[in-house]
Amino acid sequence: MTKPSVKRVALAYSGGLDTSVMITWLRENYGCEVVAVIGNVGQREDFEAIEAKALATGAIACRLLDLRAEFVESCVLPALRAGALYEGRYLLGTALARPVIAAGQVAVAREFDCDAVAHGCTGKGNDQVRFELTYRALAPELTVIAPWREWEITSREDAFAYAEARDIPVPGSPRKLYSIDRNLWHTSFEGGELENPAVAAPDDVRDLTVSPFKGNVEPEDIVVSFERGIPVALNSERLAPVELISRLNAVAGAHGVGRVDLVENRLVGMKSRGVYETPAGTVLLAALADLEAITLDRDTAAFKQSIATRYAELTYHGLWYSPLRAALDAFLESVHETTTGDVTVRLYKGQASPIARSSPHSLYREDLATFGEDTVYDQADAEGFIRLWGLPSSIAARVRAQAKTEDKPGAEAHAPHHPEPQPGPPAAISGPAQRPVSASGARANGA
Ligand code: ARG
Repeated sequence: MTKPSVKRVALAYSGGLDTSVMITWLRENYGCEVVAVIGNVGQREDFEAIEAKALATGAIACRLLDLRAEFVESCVLPALRAGALYEGRYLLGTALARPVIAAGQVAVAREFDCDAVAHGCTGKGNDQVRFELTYRALAPELTVIAPWREWEITSREDAFAYAEARDIPVPGSPRKLYSIDRNLWHTSFEGGELENPAVAAPDDVRDLTVSPFKGNVEPEDIVVSFERGIPVALNSERLAPVELISRLNAVAGAHGVGRVDLVENRLVGMKSRGVYETPAGTVLLAALADLEAITLDRDTAAFKQSIATRYAELTYHGLWYSPLRAALDAFLESVHETTTGDVTVRLYKGQASPIARSSPHSLYREDLATFGEDTVYDQADAEGFIRLWGLPSSIAARVRAQAKTEDKPGAEAHAPHHPEPQPGPPAAISGPAQRPVSASGARANGA
């Protein structure tokens, strides 16, 4: 493959081994200038040191972008509102951060008049897809360079040798236990010992959570307040989303809440095993679902549930900047007009359980639901409702019974097990004379 000619490239830079080596590799192999782009999505690093390192290893410039608010407000909270969980368990921490970082990178590429963008993702993962689909959606004119799919380096040892031969300063030793991705929403671990899914993850595979057996031993009740499906306060203290999530991570993480160990299906085909810690996300997802239970009507709730998986797949599959995701967000914006209220969540030994909820828009009517005396719900109405609701079942049963009689001439038709309806023409199904119980007799309480 002949290399496209590139004069200046914006590289998504983390300061780790791979992207450190990459600055030199891009200059050697493309003869281009490199602008390093660091996206702060809450990974808690020494960004100044990383910036200095980028410049020391040959970048002509380095931009540190504080993308935390953007990450949370434009990606994390919309996904939370959608109830997005990939394959029912993964809160998408990495998948949600990639589009924000790539978009920041595109902005820097424009600022520095770059003609290419590059990333440090390997050719086996999902992240390459997420970066590159964002580049394509936002800046299709830029050339994309993915060194991991091109270079001869195939292992961490190779990268170390490459760095050593060129005096590139690199962190630690060639041995690294896990591949770790951190941001404000989660920490994820893959690789190393985790590659054998038959073996339990060692207990040191932790960053944001403590072991529930070693953490807080007393239950703790916290109150999360939402406005239009967005968390706005913790224990009655109003907080900006970034602050709210960091605080909630600390509170829930101390109870061991939000750690999952799973095998997932990567977009590129293989299965992979990972450990994820998403303490705040786990609490917020449970709390929001609990609030929706009182604010959303049955049909809207069911429909919303049916798109949650799709939303998660779009996110996981790199299609964040797709017309469908934008359209789903418009739907969710409307759905959440009344998702305002407070949820009390009990944190205890790895669990986050909603125990109380209230909303000014609650659809819950105690006078309707009560097992006690009420004046608004006439239980006699249930009788006609049930007869009509069951009409298709009654008709089907009669027709089946009739067909059986016709199949075996002379044989008795078997009536269905329940006493009603009696075999006969459908016209007789709902005659008042067949009502087994009188309206007043049916007035027993209960479900
Ligand atoms: N498998 C997850 C995803 O595709 C996380 C990938 C990055 N995590 C890591 N530890 N390298 O979203």
